[in-house]
Amino acid sequence: MQQRWRIATTHVARLIVMAVVTGASHAAAPIHPLEWPAAAPAIAPDPATERLVDQLLASMSAEEKVGQLIQADIGSIRPQDLRRYKLGSILAGGNAAPGDDVRASAARWLALVDAYYRASVADASAAHPPIPILFGIDAVHGHARIPGATVFPHNVGLGAAHDAALIEKIGQATAEEVAATGIDWTFAPTIAVVRDVRWGRSYESYSEDPALVAAYAGAMVTGLQGAAGSSHFMGPGHVLATIKHFLGDGGTIAGRDQFDDRSDERTLREVHAAGYPPGISAGALIVMASYNSWQGTKMHANHALLTDVLKGRWQFPGFVVGDWNAQEELPGCSKFDCPDMLMAGVDMVMAPDSWRQNYQNLLGQVQSGRIPPARLDDAVRRILRVKAMAGLFGKAAPNERPGAGQFDLLGSPAHRAIAREAVRKSLVLLKNNRQLLPLDAHARILVTGALADDIGAQCGGWSIDWQGDHNSNADFPGATSIFGGIKAAVEAAGGSVELSPDGSFRQRPAAAIVVYGETPYAEFEGDRETLEFSPDDHSHLQLLRRLHALGIPVVSVFISGRPMWVNRELNASDAFVAAWLPGSEGAGVADLLFRQPDGSMREDFAARLGFSWPATAMPVTFSDSGRVRGALFRRGFGLSVTQPSQLGRLAEDPRLPPALRARDTLFYAGHVTAPWSIYLADPTASVRVTTSAQPSPDGALSVQLDPPLLQVAWSGRSQGLLSIGGRPVDYRALARDGAALRLRYRMSAPPQQPVRVGMICEAPYRTHPPPADAAVSPDVAHSPEAAAPPRNWALCGTASGAALDLTARLAAARIGAWHTLAIPLACLVDQGADLSLVSAPFAVATSGALALSISDVRIVRQAPKTPCR
Ligand code: BGC
Ligand code: BGC
Repeated sequence: MQQRWRIATTHVARLIVMAVVTGASHAAAPIHPLEWPAAAPAIAPDPATERLVDQLLASMSAEEKVGQLIQADIGSIRPQDLRRYKLGSILAGGNAAPGDDVRASAARWLALVDAYYRASVADASAAHPPIPILFGIDAVHGHARIPGATVFPHNVGLGAAHDAALIEKIGQATAEEVAATGIDWTFAPTIAVVRDVRWGRSYESYSEDPALVAAYAGAMVTGLQGAAGSSHFMGPGHVLATIKHFLGDGGTIAGRDQFDDRSDERTLREVHAAGYPPGISAGALIVMASYNSWQGTKMHANHALLTDVLKGRWQFPGFVVGDWNAQEELPGCSKFDCPDMLMAGVDMVMAPDSWRQNYQNLLGQVQSGRIPPARLDDAVRRILRVKAMAGLFGKAAPNERPGAGQFDLLGSPAHRAIAREAVRKSLVLLKNNRQLLPLDAHARILVTGALADDIGAQCGGWSIDWQGDHNSNADFPGATSIFGGIKAAVEAAGGSVELSPDGSFRQRPAAAIVVYGETPYAEFEGDRETLEFSPDDHSHLQLLRRLHALGIPVVSVFISGRPMWVNRELNASDAFVAAWLPGSEGAGVADLLFRQPDGSMREDFAARLGFSWPATAMPVTFSDSGRVRGALFRRGFGLSVTQPSQLGRLAEDPRLPPALRARDTLFYAGHVTAPWSIYLADPTASVRVTTSAQPSPDGALSVQLDPPLLQVAWSGRSQGLLSIGGRPVDYRALARDGAALRLRYRMSAPPQQPVRVGMICEAPYRTHPPPADAAVSPDVAHSPEAAAPPRNWALCGTASGAALDLTARLAAARIGAWHTLAIPLACLVDQGADLSLVSAPFAVATSGALALSISDVRIVRQAPKTPCR
């Protein structure tokens, strides 16, 4: 009773906060389902499946039904919890792994998956057969979270291959490796059609071209699951696919991850949705809803698209899974509680660390009738149907399935051969003046550049862990770096290779191969404000120019998750290869760079751009008819070594709009600078701001993006923290050089409680989950006290935090007038702060009410001297 009351009051309070923030409730933009092309699933559920599902539904308790709707992450649930909580699914998120060790072996993965499975079917109700869990993972470019697996090129490279049959082979090989570890389900393929490659997830997209994405969607689904309707479908060595993220993820404004897609309905339908009908026709049974909003409505709340179009018009028979805690961004919802999402059409809630509260809250809402029985049964039916269609009820426990435990499938020669073929087919030759390529392998070759011998960089994000930015060559047993492949090819031909990271050499080489590019990132950490490579570090350019000036022919091999503005690099190279994120088989690069010992060519460059390559540091744009403007090389471009070609000198001005020239800007002109994000935190949890008006999880504060201003209101309910953060940065040198954090603000209500302004030294979004076997206290209902522990706001190595108490300064500031506040970083250091890993260079916290308008936040180098307080 006590507990229910608490849920209710928290909910009401949240609604009030929301109403204040947004003014009125937001009506979703209309959709016209009948204008959407009809789609038909390839495999209609058969009568026997439906009978089984009917029988189960008729004998399941409300608790069991609600359990099916929940997916928990291995970082926050132990196998034995499934004896009591009969959840529908378990996932291993981007940083989750057996024993919290992302380098855990395949054998440990299988043992863990098996333990979850066995617990899910233990202590089952006597009224019906046990219902096994589905176990899901992000095998988005091979089973790349597992050391020793084959890592295929990321999708951005595969698009350039224009080869759907290859995609199907990759799907099948990936599925075999995933199934060997006992896992049933991969969260792939991403079928986003990306229109602004500043988006950090561009590499997960095959192409900007809807037709190519449509052709690949079905091929990948077929490869993973086996051909729908055939005896291979979900047989041994196959796993369930997910088509994601529904819908409009590749169309958000300025390519900001999870933000608003403002395209019109036609563009949404014809461009962004292009892969869905073919994916469904190929037998896709799971769709993941997208974090982004469309015309202001979060996709997880969009009934018209999730229910009317996907399940109605397209007759999608499977289920919709939500994305990682996506519920926390929905108006009126929290991470722990979101009936609206279910009502809109999401069937399974991805509730990694929030599963228990979501379970209890949904159960309460089922019992109160807030969620009608018909909706509950429809969602459960869909999940059970997929389990039945995938053969889960007839399959043995994971470690007893055919193929399970065959770890030699991971990185097998056959799979690596497919990956190496994919590398060859994805390399786009952008420049080959005087037909420098192919090189003679019987020669002296210099291999240089920061990424020449770096398999982690070749693999990019979603490799070993989420960001993939902490990997060394040793983390990829059996893999080959680009240098490794060149060395093997050249030495086999009787030539010699020198690896020299800085480009110095003992003997003058016949040619230099310089490998450089982007280092790994995933999701919003990869968002960029411009496509300039790389504004802050020109060492690779100096290296290219130095070699070029010596008259040594220079081949650039550029690693990147997207096309970038590289005019300067193109000018300084004789040949230039876009290698994307090739994965574990770096030898595929050498395959195309050299002539065979007999003088013949092994294979020509056949790849053609799946994305237009920009002429300036700003992305290309698309007209209504799909015409691209601003391309240096259009989609479809790619040279062959047999054709003479000569690229003239390119303009070296990136043509940046003035506002984007400023370095060290955190917030300006109404938007937060990529890759930074705004976060709101209160004692219950923290949330990343992706909409124009958003409250913190428990309503301690709320923000409104009201260009050019950021309006922030602290309610005084509890302590609230506003921060601008992202991947940690080292600010020690800047602090020594006299830099300051500078803020332009206007106050409309004075502080009532102490206000602290400063920096945070931990990633606000990076969770460090407890080991899978750590104790989870059994009966936590939704309550602020019991929920996620408050973030540590006082880090940077000091107890008081890298923050200054600015209450007096603010209290003295005139209400309604603009003020500038500058905090020398040295003041934070004087307090004992260690600024080596700053994850949020700007943070403000208070427990009392306060209202600020902020117009500008930046780090100013060589700031004028100001006192600390
Ligand atoms: C991503 C999904 C992914 C999920 C599980 C989310 O953050 O958006 O693409 O499948 O996490 O790791
Ligand atoms: C998880 C990923 C997830 C991401 C979303 C990470 O901590 O490991 O699976 O996609 O958070 O923010």
